[in-house]
Formats: sequence, structure tokens, C-alpha cells
Amino acid sequence: MQNKKIDLIVGARPNFVKCAVLYDVLKKKGFTIRLIHTGQHYDEKMSDIFFKDLSIPKEDVNLNVGSSSHAVQTGMIMQKYEELLYKERCDLVIVFGDVNSTVACVITAAKLHIETAHVEAGLRSYDRNMPEEINRLATDSISNYLFAPDRGAVDNLKKEGHTENVFLAGNIMIDTLKKHIEIIENYNLSEYNITNKKYIYMTLHRPFNVDNKDRLKSIIDFTNRISEDYPIIIPLHPRTEKMLEHFDIKSNLSNNIILIQPVSYLKSIAFIKNARSVITDSGGIQEETTYLNIPCYTLRKNTERPITITNGTNMLIEPDKNALEAILSDNEKTCDAIELWDGKTSDRIVDFICKEVF
Ligand code: UD1
Repeated sequence: MQNKKIDLIVGARPNFVKCAVLYDVLKKKGFTIRLIHTGQHYDEKMSDIFFKDLSIPKEDVNLNVGSSSHAVQTGMIMQKYEELLYKERCDLVIVFGDVNSTVACVITAAKLHIETAHVEAGLRSYDRNMPEEINRLATDSISNYLFAPDRGAVDNLKKEGHTENVFLAGNIMIDTLKKHIEIIENYNLSEYNITNKKYIYMTLHRPFNVDNKDRLKSIIDFTNRISEDYPIIIPLHPRTEKMLEHFDIKSNLSNNIILIQPVSYLKSIAFIKNARSVITDSGGIQEETTYLNIPCYTLRKNTERPITITNGTNMLIEPDKNALEAILSDNEKTCDAIELWDGKTSDRIVDFICKEVF
């Protein structure tokens, strides 16, 4: 496969996690890889730290688009990626997940008649208020190859008329998690003065939770109440930090809430693995908690990952009394092993590419 060139597109934190193992497996098969970082995430703690943690080689090209409105960010990525493809085409573009970088690059490649593959195809929250849902729908509708993480995702794609080139590949996040599990188990968190299973880990960054003052305030009140019983560690996403300052409510946080800078992948999973439970609005963390059998409370009305509820530890919550009771009660949960969350998704994707694409 030495004469075949593949562009791997990454831009935001979850993409870095998803590309790590696939990059290595493709490289070993002899493909020529061009790792393209769009620059959607650019802070050391939102980007570089993930490359170091996961031993991902430095990107070959950085489009350096930075932050802006959805249309501007997506448009800038398209413009810059098109320029790059005009200079040097590739044979296949692989995109991950549901961020703006994903949809921008898939549209650009498709219009230049370059084949495209979407890893994590078919997830649907059926909530078009979320920008990610628009990105998923658009990306799946034009990608040539759709790599689905579970059977529910395959069914969603079928309902939308995708019958050819849908491949049940498994969950690529679990490849990265399994590969690093020993390091995670031995990760030293002693500097945080917390006791295993006696603290709660929380992440929050979705616009619908943090961009509205009343909603953010009610989540802070809810978190303060939980922190009367358990310390809560929160690595603050830059968007959340900005909004807490903007609404002038950072000082409302109780002393038992430990705010820290955004953390690396390995540290984040170590925090999750040792926590009593996790409160989040992240997509990936719903899957990671299910895999690690840690109770997860998701501050959302819906999820594009329902398998984490039916087979895993996840529960959707509102910041209310019911959720408080659930979080503070004894909440051991057991999960079913989920088909193809086995650490071999990258191998299956690369086999498919070798047999069916080239
Ligand atoms: C993006 C993804 C979201 C994903 C999340 C993971 C989209 C539409 N959203 O959301 O699906 O769950 O990444 O983190 O693609 N900022 C910094 N430094 C950075 C990056 C961002 O300070 O390195 C700040 C900027 O003020 C920016 C804000 O965070 O305006 C939001 O960043 P953006 O990339 O637009 O979206 P996320 O909220 O990170």
C-alpha cells in the first residue's frame, strides 16, 4: 500500500484520542499518512498535551484556523484544506467524530472527488439544536465509507438510506483506552489530595449548559449541593471558564469544588477510573465510564450514545432533586460487555480499507 496516500483529519480534543491507534496501524501497513490538524483546538492543554500523552507524531500540516463562529471556522477550514489538496491530493480522507473540522474536510474532499471515510458514523441524538448533530448528518450523507461503532448506529444509517459501504467496525475510543490501561491504573493523582471512590469527577462544556446564565447557575447550585457530601474535581474547559467569568458566577462555587486546568487524556481517564461517579456532558466520557464500569450522570436531555444507557452505566439527568438522590445514593452499576468495544476497531478499519477501498 506504499503508493496510497491517506489524510487523517484532526482538530479538536476527541479527534486526537480517536486517531491515535489508527495512525499506527495504517503506518504499519505501509500507507503514506498526512496528519492534518485544522487548529480548531490550539491551546497547549487542549491540543499538544494529547499528542504527547498518546505519542501521536507531530502533525504534518496545521491549518491554524483557531476559534470563531461556526460558519467562519468551518469555512476557513474548507478554504485552507482545499488549497492544500490543490497542491497535493491524496487517495482517501479519513475524518473522525462530529466536530466542525470533520464536516469541513469531508465536504472539501468530496467536491474534489476524493474518497472519504467517517469513523464513528451513524450516531444520532435526533436533536438538531446541537451543532454536532448537524455535523454528523452532513458528514454521513456524503462520506463514501461509514465505520459505525455499534449496531444502533448501523440501524440509524439504514433508516437514512445508507445500505452500501456501512461497516460495523466497533468503538475506536476503546482502542486508545485499552492500549493505555496499565499506565492509567498506575497514574499518580496524589497531588490532588483525594481518596479513591470518594470524589466525583465532572466535566462541562456544551453550549446549552454553559452559554445560558440561568442554566449555568442552576448547574452550579446543583454541584455545590453535591459537594457538601463529596469533593468534586472539575477540569475547566476554556468555554466554561469564559462563561463563568462573563456571568460573574465563578465565586459562587463552593470550596469543596476543585477547579483545575484542562487535563491530558491519561490523567482524565485516571480521574474517571478512581472516581465514585462522573457527571458530564461529554460524548466520549459516556463511553469511557461504561467501559470502566463507573456510574455516569449526563447533564443532557438526549444522547447520541444510547448504548451507554441500555448496556452501560449512563443516566441522563437534569440538575434537580431526583438526580441529586441518584448521585448521592449507593450506585454500583454493572455493564454488559459491548460487542466490538474490544480494542481492535483500528485493525478492522484498516483491513476493510485494504480489501474494499484500494
Ligand atoms: C468542540 C466541539 C465539541 C467537542 C469539544 C471538545 C464543535 C462544534 N464542537 O467544542 O463537539 O465536544 O470541541 O472539547 O466542533 N478555546 C480555547 N482554546 C482552545 C480551543 C477553544 O480557549 O484551544 C475556547 C475559545 O474561546 C472558543 C471556545 O473555547 O471560542 C469553544 O471552542 P470550539 O472549538 O469552538 O468548541 P468547543 O466548545 O471546544
